[in-house]
Amino acid sequence: MSIRIMGTGSALPVKKVANEELARLVDTSDEWIRERTGIGSRYISTGETVASLAARACSLALEDAGKRAGEVELILVATCSPEDTAPCTACQVQKEIGAGNAVAFDLNAACAGFLFALHTAWAYVESGIYRNVLVAGSEVLSKLVDWEDRGTCILFGDGAGAVYAEKCEEGGIRSFVQHSDGSRGAVLSGVCRPLANPYIARSQEGNYLKMDGREIFSFAVRQIPKTIEEALGKSGTDVGEVDFFLLHQANRRIIEGISRRLEADGERFPMNLMEVGNTSSASIPLLLDELNRRGRLQRGMKLVFAGFGAGLTCGACVLEW
Ligand code: UT7
Repeated sequence: MSIRIMGTGSALPVKKVANEELARLVDTSDEWIRERTGIGSRYISTGETVASLAARACSLALEDAGKRAGEVELILVATCSPEDTAPCTACQVQKEIGAGNAVAFDLNAACAGFLFALHTAWAYVESGIYRNVLVAGSEVLSKLVDWEDRGTCILFGDGAGAVYAEKCEEGGIRSFVQHSDGSRGAVLSGVCRPLANPYIARSQEGNYLKMDGREIFSFAVRQIPKTIEEALGKSGTDVGEVDFFLLHQANRRIIEGISRRLEADGERFPMNLMEVGNTSSASIPLLLDELNRRGRLQRGMKLVFAGFGAGLTCGACVLEW
């Protein structure tokens, strides 16, 4: 038994911001951003929320699967940028889409969040607790980045992606691998609200995202090929059998580095970071939805999803579409 993805959806804010526009805010250029990252533009919220984007992506995933919201049993939203500490984003999505019979909660594993949520969904279905699930990755990281820091503000974009998946007897997800390394948490960090009460001196430190870009870069290029090979090994799949590798869309050079290490040709690594930037937990389901809607996926194809991010965390899964 496993779970199979039956529908996909995604949502982006209305405002698209090109590199040239960022060059008016910080000391950077379209040429530098494209050369070092592959990114040409990103979407930035001017009002859309993590919950509203996730709800739109989930509704579209249900529509694509031909399912009604009332049939959904579990909603998982992966996010590291929720609007509210309570209620959780998944409960807001449940209300928004009218999925009143679903259990709903959030999960945070930063940019690997969608994969960790999908694995959680898989475990629930395999154990027989639920039969179907909506899994979304949704972020509005634009409220967490320091818009004066050219090292980070050029990378991230806002958006959401979602899948509807259900129990299946054949095919579906074949294997999963996850890793976490809390000892390297400082490589990419951001605080929600610093400690503040009448008994301590207030911290003056800003609470923006802080990142050691080079460390993350080398972590991804070294660790992700190994994680993918581990997941392929667990499912008895050869690198050559994989139709598409859908990797976290952080940097074109990272994806190319991973494809070289795997000795797999670049054409099997689709990318949309040129248009949407790094959307953290939304990046894999956003890309999946794009491929699905363009008719590039056929039932029976073998796919690999792999992601990495703050934590540090990383994961990969092998599935049959
Ligand atoms: O989802 C996971 C989240 N994070 C990531 O995936 C990040 C992974 N890392 C990366 O993508 C890359 O490390 C970056 C794109 C962040 C940076 O690229 P890099 O090739 O590692 O550049 P660097 O940090 O080594 O900086 C090279 C130079 C520096 O100048 P100096 O010291 O050589 O004079 C930076 O100050 O480039 C400068 N720089 C910039 N210049 C123009 C850094 N950011 C910019 C910028 N525009 N936006």
